[in-house]
Formats: sequence, structure tokens, C-alpha cells
Amino acid sequence: MCGIIGYVGARPAEEILLAGLRKLEYRGYDSAGLSVLADGTIRAVRAVGNLDHLEAALAQEDALVPPATIGIAHTRWATHGAVSEQNAHPLCDAEGRIHVVVNGIVENYVGLRDRLTAAGATFSSQTDAEVIAQLIASEYDGDLAATVQHALGQLDGFFAFVAMALDEPDVLVGARRECPLVIGRGTDESFVASAVPAFLAHTRSTQLIENGEIVVLRAGEVEIRDANGAPVERELLEITWDADTAEKGGYETFMLKEIHDQADALAETINDRTVRRDGVDLAEECFDESLLEGIERVVFVACGTAYHAGLMGRYAIEEWAELPVEVDVASEYRYRNPLVGPRDLVVGISQSGETADTLGAMRVARERGARVVALTNVMGSQATRECDGVLYTRAGLEIGVAATKTFVAQLAVVYLLALRLAELRGTLSAERRAELVAALRRLPQNVEELLDGLDEQVDQISQWCWQANFFLYIGRHAGVPIALEGALKLKEISYISTDAYAAGEMKHGPIAMLDEHTPVVAVATTSPVLTKVVNNIQEVAARGAKVIAMTTAGDHTVDAHVKATVPVPASDPMLEPLLAVIPLQLLAYKIAMRRGLNPDQPRNLAKTVTVE
Ligand code: G6P
Repeated sequence: MCGIIGYVGARPAEEILLAGLRKLEYRGYDSAGLSVLADGTIRAVRAVGNLDHLEAALAQEDALVPPATIGIAHTRWATHGAVSEQNAHPLCDAEGRIHVVVNGIVENYVGLRDRLTAAGATFSSQTDAEVIAQLIASEYDGDLAATVQHALGQLDGFFAFVAMALDEPDVLVGARRECPLVIGRGTDESFVASAVPAFLAHTRSTQLIENGEIVVLRAGEVEIRDANGAPVERELLEITWDADTAEKGGYETFMLKEIHDQADALAETINDRTVRRDGVDLAEECFDESLLEGIERVVFVACGTAYHAGLMGRYAIEEWAELPVEVDVASEYRYRNPLVGPRDLVVGISQSGETADTLGAMRVARERGARVVALTNVMGSQATRECDGVLYTRAGLEIGVAATKTFVAQLAVVYLLALRLAELRGTLSAERRAELVAALRRLPQNVEELLDGLDEQVDQISQWCWQANFFLYIGRHAGVPIALEGALKLKEISYISTDAYAAGEMKHGPIAMLDEHTPVVAVATTSPVLTKVVNNIQEVAARGAKVIAMTTAGDHTVDAHVKATVPVPASDPMLEPLLAVIPLQLLAYKIAMRRGLNPDQPRNLAKTVTVE
């Protein structure tokens, strides 16, 4: 997740780019930078930290005279390479002739970098983005558009970028594959950016860029070309949103936007770790896979939603890698006498990487000699500094207090870890691993399919249950963490009392709570114990409770016993629960909205809990 913007026109570019970056800062603020071009000179300024740091850095250097009227800019949310000025964008070739800003990941950047290095290129950053700049520079012959087009064909992954060349001072070229990039059309000026708010102050007239297309921008002139270089006609869209809605990508709240961002979060987290057909690769600069060798147990410590991801880790690791797993809430673990040592891999899961109790639990484990890994969404967070290795989720900045896209990304990482351990320990055949890798790689598409029409479907359900004052959530096996998470979402943002139970425990207490007014949410996706879940649903229905079941598409086992079903696309039984959490997030959301509450800012809660 990063924000990019390009401008070419008649007005001073720097101010327009900076103001645009301000509107994109929600996409990341590890570092920022811009390159502007005037009179045969490129002024490139980059700074670690948020935009205030970039503005301070700009103020220290002489501006170009006359001021540049073309340039590109970036605000970074680090994925490849540490948070440093060297890795900040724009990145350029060694001679500084081609500058680029990039959002996304180039999956084959190592191979390309080796090839370019063998041909004499020297690299100054650890980023995949620099590979794009160097690749374009190595093939550049005075036609930036044609060179970008050719370079695009050599890049694997999902990204969007904008390039500028010293030798062509009137043109910017953008390219898009999966990551967002939109055009802004002004009179005598043109914009290209990750999102509309970046240029909304200047124009409401936009054009979309489709996957695989490039766009050639000049002042007031825009040409879109398809993958073969043929010109494409694209209609103009007039943006009618107000500025506030625009920042939320057209959604009414950040939470809803983030629910809809989940396919991207999964793609970013999974894709470049599953390039091999029958295995997962977790090795990165911040993670040495030798940490996984010879371990005898995995321990997950976490708080809140992250704890639920740890619970899922237990099911996946025990089943696939046949390793014992312990899971504990960090605030308990740190004050127990945890029996832990060098053969234990302790994984602290924390979206923010700053939760006091999770850090406390990681410290206790480290003092006792365990190998400690941080599983987090935030580069440079405290957790990443107090561990032996980091596994990142790449969900992008999450603004809604209730975690949504970071949770599914955490689930993805625990699945990846389980699969890697299974391979290292020889517990799954290559064929089974290949099946699971394929299923993981399909998840983003599964999420897209699921989200199509889901808003209305869940809204209809919320219509009859939003006034209930108690909800029970049940599931078994990998459905249990999802039942717990669904219940947590509802209580967090709707302030409705909820309970979540392993369905088999129902007869030991919670069933006493049920009457015809109680909605019961059941996770009833494919599982080795689905028939048992069905029995539990029948028991609940017999007490008059109204069941809302998350099922697997095509399976109608529970239909006769429930008031509503929400089918999720078929996947592996271990992965379907990840899909099932999405309707549960939306259900909580719809109920909160019907109750007139603001889901982005629930009462009494904070996004990051830095005190115990
Ligand atoms: C708070 C947030 C939750 C989050 C939990 C753990 O309670 O509201 O959404 O799950 O902290 O936060 P972490 O950053 O460690 O994942």
C-alpha cells in the first residue's frame, strides 16, 4: 500500500503534488518523496516519516527556477526494504534520468535485478521499485511510453507506477496491473494517482485505467493504450462525491472500505510467498527460515482479534505440520509461568506491533530463550524490534478501529506459516501442498466473488435482527475462531451483548439463554465435523432461536433448519472460515449502522492499546 500521484500542466507542480499526497497519506506514511523536472534538471527530494518531514526537507533545498510544472510523488507504506531514505520513492536509475513511483509488488524483481546487475547496473536501494526504474532506463531510446510498455511485459506481480524521463520533459507514463491508478482530466493539465481524492481539488473529471494498460499524459492530453500498444477509448466519469466520501474510496465509512479492500490485502500478503507451485517461501531480509528448523512447538500470543488469528493457527499447524500449538491471550501469558524455551517458536501477532501486552508476552518468551517472531502489519513497529524475525501482513493502513482486513491477512500468514512448517517437516505430500497453495492463491478471487452482492444480502438479514439484545455465535473446528471474531465485531461496534462458543459446549450453559428472540450465528462451512454442527443448529432451532448460517456454496445441509444462509465460495475446509468471517464483519457493520452508530469510532475502544 502506497500512494502515488503525477502531475503535468502549467502550474507549479510541487504544491499540487504535496497537496495530493496529503490526501493519500492514509495509504502509508513511512516515507515520502517527489521528483519534479524543469529546464533539464530533476529535483528529487525524499524523507523518512510523514509529509511534514518531506516538506521540511524541501524547504532546505533550493527550488527550481522557473518552477517545474511536471512531476511525480509518493507516500510509502513499506513492503520490500526497510523504512529508510534510500528506499523512499521516487527511485531512479544510477544516472538519474528515469524516475518512478510505485505502489505494489514486483514478484520477479530478484531475477530482474540480477539480470540488470550482470549487465552493469548498480542498485542503491533494496526496493523492487528501483528495478522498474533501472529496467526502463536500460531499454530507453527516447520514447518513454514505448519503453514502459515493453518493461511492463517483463514484470510479474501486481502494481501501479508512474514514470518520468529527463529527456522528455512534457510527458508522464503510468502503468497499471491490479493496484489502483486513475486519471484526472483538467484543462491544460493532467493528473494520475492511486485515488481520486489526490486531485479532486482540481478536477472532478476522471478516467479509469484497466489492468495491463498504460497511460501517456501531457498537459491537458491523455492517451490510454492497451497491452499491445493500441489506443483505447475510455469514457469520462464525473465524480459527484464530496471530499469526505472520496477519502473513503466512495464508501460511507473506513470500515466498509476496509471490508471491501480484503481481496487486495490477501493478494498482497499471499502472492509473492506462493510463487512455487507446491510450497511457500517466507524468507525475507527480516525473516530467516532457519528460525523454523528443529522447533518442537509453536506458541501464539496476541490480544483481541489477533488472538483469534492465533487460534486459527493452532488448527492449521496441528493439522498440516503436526506440531503442538499453544495459544494464549498475551495479558495472561506474560504473567503466567510459561514453560517455554529454545525449541519453541513464539509468534506475537499484533496488527499495530505496539500492543503493550503482546510486547510484554514476547519479552517474557525471549528472556526464556524462545525464538520469537512478530507477525505484524506495521514496518518498524516496536514488535519488529524485539524479535528474531518478522512476518508481515501486507494489508495496508487500517483506519477503522475494528480490525477487518488485517485479520484476514493475519489468517493468511498463519496458513502460510503452517504450510511452510509442513513442508520442512515432511508432513504433507507435494500434491497436497500444491492443492493448498492453489487454494490460498485463489482466496483473493473468492473474496471478490463473495463480496459481489453481499452488502444487500447481509443488509436484508440485519433488517430482522438488528434490535435483538443478545446474539450467540457458534462453530466447531476452524469455525470456532471465526465465531469468536464475529461475536467480537458485533459487540465492538454495535454494543450488543454476544457470546461465542465451540458449538459442542452449548449444552453446558449457553443453550439456557436461547429463546425465539435470539439470533444464533453459526459457522457451518465444510468441515470434518459439519454433521455435528448441523446437529447443534437443529438443537438451537428447536428452541425457537433464529439461525443465520455461514455455509459453503452448493451445500444445502442446513437450509431446512435456518432462517438465513450466507454461502461462501468453496475452498479448502481450513480456508473457508476465512471467507466466512467477511459476512460476519458486514453483519456487525449493518447492525451498527441501523442503530445509528459510527463503526469507525466505537465508544471506549482504541485502535492500538499501548498500555496494559
Ligand atoms: C485493540 C483493537 C483490536 C485489536 C487489538 C489488538 O483492542 O481495537 O482491533 O485486535 O487491540 O491489537 P494489535 O494491534 O496488537 O493487533
